[in-house]
Amino acid sequence: MKVTVATAVARERRRPRPGRRTGPRGDAWKEPEWFIRFDVSQRLQHIVLALSFVGLVITGLPQKYPNWPLATWTIQQLGGIDNSRLIHRSLAVAFIALAVYHLGGIIITTLRGRLRPTMVPNQKDVLDALAMLRYSLGLAPAPPRFDRYEYRQKFEYWGIIFGSAIMISTGLVLWFPILFTKVLPGEAVAAAREAHGGEATLALLTIVIWHLYSVLLSPAIFPADLSIFTGRISWQRMEEEHPLEYDRLRRELERAKAAGPAGNAGRPRRSNRRLARARRSASDPGHDGQE
Ligand code: HEM
Repeated sequence: MKVTVATAVARERRRPRPGRRTGPRGDAWKEPEWFIRFDVSQRLQHIVLALSFVGLVITGLPQKYPNWPLATWTIQQLGGIDNSRLIHRSLAVAFIALAVYHLGGIIITTLRGRLRPTMVPNQKDVLDALAMLRYSLGLAPAPPRFDRYEYRQKFEYWGIIFGSAIMISTGLVLWFPILFTKVLPGEAVAAAREAHGGEATLALLTIVIWHLYSVLLSPAIFPADLSIFTGRISWQRMEEEHPLEYDRLRRELERAKAAGPAGNAGRPRRSNRRLARARRSASDPGHDGQE
């Protein structure tokens, strides 16, 4: 059964209090067993990113490496070079639209004062990376405890952000060379082509070697981590992989339990605001605005 912690908090508040056994260490708060980690918007963004990226690679790389037999075959299957370029540019529009949507979401969430900077790198990430190295070398007894996103996930996220900025800016120069050379020297077009093709190759290698390993082959999640498609992960995985977030949610729910349904009586509006705040901070990743 899929339920966010916010729903669990709400249920807890509705439950009759008299005679009910309560206790801060009870496991009841873990019901139901799934935690919603990604909302619908995040899942759709990932699908659009994955599909447009694969399409851009298939239509772009044969242009960079035209002498490869696979390149000739691919371009033939796509109906020739003109078709390949048309598909590449059409997918580029989807890719740019996604970037604008993502950035717009962050700006709007920030303006509403609801941005949780869960993807912003901080000092703990550096310490975590060092701690993980020590653990991997057998010099520490346990791995570091992570929050909602760990340093490797942040690294990947920012890699995509900077990589997309390079691909979009250089792609636009290749698309509209006459316009750009009104303000840039002619060499900029050749430089943009080098950067565009080089970054495309780097991005493909990163996705295949790093991303696909960590979401498909890594022993921790083999045979596949499908949470970005289903949106949910088990409480057990939360406890193991995101213990700091898990602890925070548990404290949140215990506070809601302690407040009880009586917490709303007489002061409905104020309590509702407090619960809404708790919901946002406890369990709705969509309000991060970053993921
Ligand atoms: C991550 C996504 C992308 C990948 C992997 C990719 C890959 C490539 C590759 C490998 C080339 C051949 C470069 C060369 O000949 O050396 C290329 C060409 C090109 N790309 Fe991209 N690209 C991406 C995104 C974009 C975007 C966002 C735009 C538009 C803003 C764009 C516009 C172009 C254009 C105009 C060309 C020249 C060939 C043509 O006219 O179709 N690309 N791309």
